[in-house]
Amino acid sequence: MTDTPAPRKRLLIRTWGCQMNVYDSARMADVLAPLGYAPTEQVEEADMVILNTCHIREKATEKVFSDLGRLREAKQARGGEMVIAVAGCVAQAEGAEITARAPWVDLVLGPQSYHRLPEMVARAARAAGTVIETEFPTEDKFDHLPETTAPQGATAFLTIQEGCDKFCSFCVVPYTRGSEYSRPVAAIVAEAERLVALGAREITLLGQNVNAWHGEGPDGGAWTLGRLARRLAEIEGLLRIRYTTSHPRDMDDDLIAAHGDTPALMPFLHLPVQSGSDRVLRMMNRGHTAADYLRLVERLRAARPDLALSTDIIAGHPGETDADHAATLALIREVGFAQAFSFKYSARPGTPASTMAGQVEEAVKDARLAEVQALLRDQQTAFNRSRAGLVAEVLVTGPGRHPGQMAGRTPWLNPVHFEGPAELAGQVVPVRILAGHPNSLTGTLAAPHRAQPRERPAA
Ligand code: 5AD
Ligand code: SF4
Repeated sequence: MTDTPAPRKRLLIRTWGCQMNVYDSARMADVLAPLGYAPTEQVEEADMVILNTCHIREKATEKVFSDLGRLREAKQARGGEMVIAVAGCVAQAEGAEITARAPWVDLVLGPQSYHRLPEMVARAARAAGTVIETEFPTEDKFDHLPETTAPQGATAFLTIQEGCDKFCSFCVVPYTRGSEYSRPVAAIVAEAERLVALGAREITLLGQNVNAWHGEGPDGGAWTLGRLARRLAEIEGLLRIRYTTSHPRDMDDDLIAAHGDTPALMPFLHLPVQSGSDRVLRMMNRGHTAADYLRLVERLRAARPDLALSTDIIAGHPGETDADHAATLALIREVGFAQAFSFKYSARPGTPASTMAGQVEEAVKDARLAEVQALLRDQQTAFNRSRAGLVAEVLVTGPGRHPGQMAGRTPWLNPVHFEGPAELAGQVVPVRILAGHPNSLTGTLAAPHRAQPRERPAA
């Protein structure tokens, strides 16, 4: 007797925004796989399309609505045989607007509802109109999501924390992702072990406010992120640990110490500062001053001298003056960032900053952003050039752009290209850096390679 294969269906997921959304998209694919959904890149053959959306700035939200317009035509071309789902933070914040503006959408689901997807798909098949799930349920969605079985590359994401209680003046995250929640230690360790068994050598721990993570250790003690990192570093085969995104106020002493005593914790930290002006930082409700941030950077560099820093900057927050902008440029110069993201302030409905007096004119915001970006670009290029001549431990992630070329990343997260055999994928190898470019490095294998069980700290 032969088994009847489950009907094959095709699933297309489009992901915007942060790494948390990339992780969530992978989880949604996992949850739908048992229903027969296999991934596709082609919208024409998709039985289901999920837009995993970002609400953080206005532009990201607009793109969702224009994509929905195009999907309407694709759905019509298939005689209506396409389930269209909107997930992520736009779904959470604008569920009603989506159903009003795009009634051809079948499902609207917030980030806490992904484990309900199969049930929602079934309900959509029966129901007329849109099925909406945007509650913040009290149950732990992580308990209901299946274990990942998809083969992993050398690098993987692992969500350990969600939500944020900081309420920065400009930010929608506390409203779309809800209040802070930390996953338990045992669940995190088990998922990390599974990812490593599937081939991951580097894990990036994710959270909107990841360094606010806290939990109870197996010893009954209160753990914060430094202790968790040390525990994960004990996993055989896990060579590298990173975490993002952090708030300066949650960088506790133990986490700073862990950067010094845990070689697997990579010497790269994304630590958003947003502004270098104390006035603006106060209006932003950040809870720290520019001097506090600089002091933190000093302590981190004392713990791990080769630490490279990345940040987020917002240009043109309401009330920002030329002097405040100059203070931001001064802070950037003082720190010297290896990488950074910078954004023009975008008023988000429902946030305190959106109704503050002193909204900055578009042209002024544009000019300030251009200055910030020029400075950050120069710093990034300078940092990349400063890697030339070093022998860096490179985690090989896969083939490079050209035949015979491999790609990987340094401890400082720079993409690096070098000539090498395909079997290096998944290994950490020494690469002599020959040149630093604006966005990547090029190098050459520094020694005949052998599989290395554990990485030593970078020189
Ligand atoms: N306008 C511009 N940038 C924003 N960010 C968050 N909200 C806004 C906004 N309303 C930026 C912050 C944050 C990053 C993820 O996005 O710099 O750290
Ligand atoms: Fe948003 Fe980050 Fe501030 Fe939380 S800490 S409100 S996620 S900018």
